[in-house]
Amino acid sequence: MLELTTIKDGKDGTLQIADSFRNIPFSIKRVYFIKDLKKESIRGVHAHKKLEQIAFCLKGSFVLRLYNGKRRLKRFVKADGSGAYIPPMIWHSMEGFSRNCLIAVFASDVYDECDYIRDFSEFRRLTK
Ligand code: TYD
Repeated sequence: MLELTTIKDGKDGTLQIADSFRNIPFSIKRVYFIKDLKKESIRGVHAHKKLEQIAFCLKGSFVLRLYNGKRRLKRFVKADGSGAYIPPMIWHSMEGFSRNCLIAVFASDVYDECDYIRDFSEFRRLTK
């Protein structure tokens, strides 16, 4: 989990900042948002060959499951300014969304379907 820089401005609210190479270990080339989630929704269920991503929960919470071919990890991600780093070659899924869950994902590159591994047996083969 990575932390954003937080600046509290009293009655004027709070700033949370994601700087590349300070809070985020890569140069951000794409940001996308995930919304309209239901508690039975499931997202992800794939790995990336090279892409690095960080998922921030802006509202609500969700469960992130990660698998590197050997070990499984389950993280509860909530809107506390911390983001879940998803490195390359990690099979991941997002589920257990709370009501009104809003997610922002920062990615190290633009969208490229060729970077996806969507077939679990292919992922298992590549991580053997
Ligand atoms: P996908 O990455 O599988 O979504 P998630 O990981 O959130 O479950 O993408 C779903 C669809 O949206 C797929 O057809 C590709 C498309 N897409 C883009 O065109 N650009 C993007 O930046 C993203 C993230 C997805």
